[in-house]
Amino acid sequence: MRVVTSERELRGLGGCVCVPTMGALHAGHASLVRAARAAAGAAAPVVVTVFVNPTQFNDAADLARYPRTLEADAALCHQSGADAVFAPPVGEVYPHGRVVRVPALPAVATEPGLEDRWRPGHFAGVCQVVARLFEMVSPAAAVFGQKDWQQLQVIRAMTAQERLGVEIIPGETVREHDGLAMSSRNRFLSAADRAPATALSRALAVAAQERDACGAEKLMLDTLRSAGHRVEYAVVRQAETLGPITRAGDRGRALIATRLGDVRLIDNAAW
Ligand code: PAF
Repeated sequence: MRVVTSERELRGLGGCVCVPTMGALHAGHASLVRAARAAAGAAAPVVVTVFVNPTQFNDAADLARYPRTLEADAALCHQSGADAVFAPPVGEVYPHGRVVRVPALPAVATEPGLEDRWRPGHFAGVCQVVARLFEMVSPAAAVFGQKDWQQLQVIRAMTAQERLGVEIIPGETVREHDGLAMSSRNRFLSAADRAPATALSRALAVAAQERDACGAEKLMLDTLRSAGHRVEYAVVRQAETLGPITRAGDRGRALIATRLGDVRLIDNAAW
């Protein structure tokens, strides 16, 4: 497996299955790389991108403390079946003097009450870097985790809207033994906050038992607040558009974002 840092070194890897990441990889990412390997078969290469994208952070402190662990990331990618890691410096993705276009934001990015309310501008940065990485890597398909459910819908919509010709493959969420969804940010949880962090998966499980959307939202709020979370949202929405549930037959998704100490946690599940 190769680690490359420039667009030039990607020659010959076009038509690959790509796994875009910001590094600090864990078992959840390993599962995405294995899904990419399965989708690629023997013929196409698997390329993992590792790039901490500055344009999607709206908090400079969050960007500064984002873990950078390239050597361990490359080892995990190798073990999970990747052919190459593309870890470009900022200047390769955003060359000085070149305007890197921000694709038009699909409506699902700005659904009221979700990520845009709490991280304004975040999805503009995500769409910009994903479109740019696709331009550099030229993948046939790309795998994105379902843990970032709204991001997955935004990228699907943006890829279709911009006619980027990349198939978007959803990857499973991997959980710790006690239900906590794996995330690069879990390492920042204090010892005291580790057990209360499981309230997200518990809240989603409780919501799944309640047939009324408002009732499910109240149950999630109660579960999260009683475990000491500051809740940003705990809602049930239509699974693809993320608009409100309007019909009994709508496919639903329960989505949560909270803060525990100074760590932001998100999770979601089918509803
Ligand atoms: O989910 C992530 O890690 C990032 O948002 C992504 C998709 C790699 C873009 O920087």
